[in-house]
Amino acid sequence: MCGIVGYLGDKPCIPLIYDGLTKLEYRGYDSAGIAVAQEGRVALAKSEGKLERLKSHLKDLPASATMGIGHTRWATHGAPNTINSHPHSAGDFAIVHNGIIENYLELKEELEAEGIKFYTETDSEVAMQYLRAQYNKLGSLEEAIKKSVKVFRGSYAIGILDPKQNNFLYVIKHGSPVVIGIGDNECFFASDAPAIVAHTQKAIFLNDGEFARISKDNIKVWDFDGKASAFRIAELSWSSEAADKQGYRHFMLKEMHEQPVVIQKAIARLIDVHTGDFNEAALGIDQINLEGIKNINIIGCGSAYHAGQIAKYFLEPLLGLPVTVELASEFRYRDPYIRDTTLTLAISQSGETLDTLTAVKFCLENKSQVLALCNVEYSSIVRAATSTCYMHAGPEIGVASTKAFTLQVFCLYAVGLAIAKKIGRLKDNDLKAILNDLRVFPNMIEQALAGKEAIELVAQKFYETTNFLFVGRGLHAPVASEGALKLKEISYVFAEAYAGGELKHGPIALVDKKMAVLAIVPSDFYFEKMVSNVEEIKAREGRIVVVGDNASPRLRNLSEAFIHCPQIATPALQAILTTVPLQLFAYFMALKRGTDVDQPRNLAKSVTVE
Ligand code: M6R
Repeated sequence: MCGIVGYLGDKPCIPLIYDGLTKLEYRGYDSAGIAVAQEGRVALAKSEGKLERLKSHLKDLPASATMGIGHTRWATHGAPNTINSHPHSAGDFAIVHNGIIENYLELKEELEAEGIKFYTETDSEVAMQYLRAQYNKLGSLEEAIKKSVKVFRGSYAIGILDPKQNNFLYVIKHGSPVVIGIGDNECFFASDAPAIVAHTQKAIFLNDGEFARISKDNIKVWDFDGKASAFRIAELSWSSEAADKQGYRHFMLKEMHEQPVVIQKAIARLIDVHTGDFNEAALGIDQINLEGIKNINIIGCGSAYHAGQIAKYFLEPLLGLPVTVELASEFRYRDPYIRDTTLTLAISQSGETLDTLTAVKFCLENKSQVLALCNVEYSSIVRAATSTCYMHAGPEIGVASTKAFTLQVFCLYAVGLAIAKKIGRLKDNDLKAILNDLRVFPNMIEQALAGKEAIELVAQKFYETTNFLFVGRGLHAPVASEGALKLKEISYVFAEAYAGGELKHGPIALVDKKMAVLAIVPSDFYFEKMVSNVEEIKAREGRIVVVGDNASPRLRNLSEAFIHCPQIATPALQAILTTVPLQLFAYFMALKRGTDVDQPRNLAKSVTVE
């Protein structure tokens, strides 16, 4: 939540910082600001609302400035208005902050007692004033940082602009991500790589408990005790084009359309579809000791959790081991039974979700090996985990997860197959049939996407409906949850998901002619049972949308709309296929309702607060 950017070099910094912020807007978008140095003072431009609104204020800044910091905000403390937006400055010093300073009230009281006045409701202004007070007392910014980080509680990434120092910017990391980009006689810092990849592929990822002083041609990193830290310069693989819309109206639309290609690439990377060999290094299982593993523990949040729920359906029979799936936000606050005989699969697109990261740390402390399934390179979960299976989806900018979700399910399946083969549980004939399906699978995702015009017409019929139930059985029960989540988050339509068999245990009481029900009815083992559920809904006058491959007269008669989805024999792959029309449905519902598809209200892509 919140994106921070800093630049120091020979070029005018304002356009570069603004451009970096556009690439981080998915982290927060309720207000934004930029600060630069001007004649030993801080010049500030801030605005509430989307980044776009900041543009008209940038003319107030000195255009020739070559050093500055910027911020795009997802409000935690204090309303999302101009005064509370970052950078926070006392005129001679400015900071941008991503995270939460939990003990800010205590610190504020202390500072107020010293006569310092506050103008905002934010914890970030307190962090700024605390750092500044230490700086004034100690006369050195590095000493002030060391002192302050001993006192700050919470998680934070803080970028500091001190106009008295023309050659340096500072950045501190504790719990929130920071990447430093090294360019040609210029240097950047940012919350995430998309903000810098247009300028450099060379990056340093700070560890928790480190701060850095960056200049045009030199980086120094220290730990919080002031001891110099060694760092590694990583080569980023993301390109700048990957973080652009490339002609699509929305990032979400572009990312849905990337699914056939990213899945095709994942197949090529992870499985040899001719020999049935698995790339154990790319799957991350070469680093995992499978001996003695007695159970699988899957953790994640939001869509990642749904991917885990789907995986439970195929992993248990594949591996012959009990699989539990839990929301990381619940897991981390209880006392779960985790031992060295547990293999944990931690799923996270960003690799920065604080709940998942904390759960990962708990598992490691309790001797469980952790295999991370992540998209963002060198992210915190990747660095904490025993080993990683990278999804390589490229940047996912739309707040609603699409390609990352389907890749999560796919990677979980590939991991499951590879382990099953390794432990001798995968029969040759079964593998052969799966490999056959994998060969045609990317093309079938294309076919599912090709149904978009028909899906748009369904959305046209239903976009004024304000209540939806999503139902499915087997793997399609969590697919229904994912479909409902997509609809909720981008179209603001209330949507709840139930396993088909659960309807009669309560939710069917909600069904009347105003209730819309989206039923996932592929031609699988549950087909007849799902058709019965649809009959029950129809009998209570619910409005029915069916997603399936079998447009039989019976189903057509029962439903007001039928969304066709191609059929594939392998259930795990079918779950991915069936997700695609649900993504499109949510997208078109949002379009018709006029909501902000890529940046829905109240949300941020990367949830780095509790
Ligand atoms: O980066 P992560 O995969 O850890 O994020 C987890 C959730 O915040 C994320 O999936 C969220 O639910 C998406 N907005 C869903 O579309």
